[in-house]
Amino acid sequence: MKKQILTTPDGESYPILTGTGLLETCGQEIAALTAPCRAMIVSDSNVAPLYLEKVVNSLKLAGFEVHTHVVSPGENSKSIAVFGALLESFAEAHLTRTDIAVALGGGVIGDLTGFAAGCYLRGIRFVQIPTTLLSAVDASVGGKTAINLQHGKNLAGMFHQPAAVYCDINTLKSLTPHELADGAAEAIKTGILGDPELFAIYETGDPENDAEEIISRAVAYKSKIVTEDPQEHGVRKLLNLGHTAAHAIELLSNFAISHGHAVAIGTAIVTRAAVKRGIMKNDEGTRIINTLKRNHLPTDSAFTAKELSKIATLDKKAAAKDITVIIPETIGRCRMEKIPISALEGLFADGLGEQV
Ligand SMILES: NC(=O)c1ccc[n+]([C@@H]2O[C@H](COP(=O)([O-])OP(=O)(O)OC[C@H]3O[C@@H](n4cnc5c(N)ncnc54)[C@H](O)[C@@H]3O)[C@@H](O)[C@H]2O)c1
Ligand SMILES: [Zn+2]
Repeated sequence: MKKQILTTPDGESYPILTGTGLLETCGQEIAALTAPCRAMIVSDSNVAPLYLEKVVNSLKLAGFEVHTHVVSPGENSKSIAVFGALLESFAEAHLTRTDIAVALGGGVIGDLTGFAAGCYLRGIRFVQIPTTLLSAVDASVGGKTAINLQHGKNLAGMFHQPAAVYCDINTLKSLTPHELADGAAEAIKTGILGDPELFAIYETGDPENDAEEIISRAVAYKSKIVTEDPQEHGVRKLLNLGHTAAHAIELLSNFAISHGHAVAIGTAIVTRAAVKRGIMKNDEGTRIINTLKRNHLPTDSAFTAKELSKIATLDKKAAAKDITVIIPETIGRCRMEKIPISALEGLFADGLGEQV
């Protein structure tokens, strides 16, 4: 079992536990944070049949009054309608300011529950129990919560840090290879940003049997960045490596391409552009592309630079005239670059090997 602590500059601090058997012990853990109260567990209909009962029992045993709310699986549950129904469910269960929400699922459940917890009664506490690798290495840590609007992904949300994160790596056993690859994309991203040893696990190691090490390394890097810049005014933007193109790919594919797969394509695009522009050495760029492929991730886009840049500039991260893009320099170091919106298509074109 690994225990890491994330402390934000304004003194908020929470534990992130990674190991086995946490579904069974989460009740005790949560009881150590707050006196037993009402707990609303939010999950989706894939995860609930597998793990909900364990979490319900653990919380009941620790003295909590337990309520549950199960939504449909998938990105479509990050919607205003599902969000509204969840808030009504909190009210129906008479949750008060001192009660707690529990997100049991992947990034979709974490983002949705965190946002609802942040809004309900102007903010109640919530804990994250990530059950996907993507959520364990990235989404469950750092306090970004959001739902999607018809105009784009994550357009309504807030920063609301969890009170704790419990990652039971046993839950990862029921993920499909596709879902594991989604998480691998964010972990490889983290390796490129600042942890060459994490990258090496995916380049030459045995990631399927190294989950605890992967998660704790990714959490350590993300915690360091979030501690420095919780609200993404500066260095936290680095975590968006590959994401400018990725969000456009997700939208253009109508979410048929999942977040992690889109991040892999986005990372490949900026990597090739960095090589073409002489920012990254050719052999390092090749290592990144090969490592994505080794982990069953795509590196090519079915969309053109024009299509991607048009959608990407509608993204919320695009300030009026400029956009900050993250460019890899070496495996373990990336730079932030502010470029005019009009230059984005050229960057993507370089990454896609297109002539413009
Ligand atoms: N808040 C953040 O900082 C942050 C960071 C990265 C991604 N995200 C968001 O996270 C979302 C993607 O997260 P995700 O990839 O976890 O998607 P997800 O929550 O949709 O989970 C993927 C699929 O796996 C199923 N599932 C989850 N756990 C399972 C388990 N243990 N066994 C079997 N099936 C399981 C789910 O039902 C779903 O069908 C996106 O909406 C993305 O925007 C947020
Ligand atoms: Zn991401």
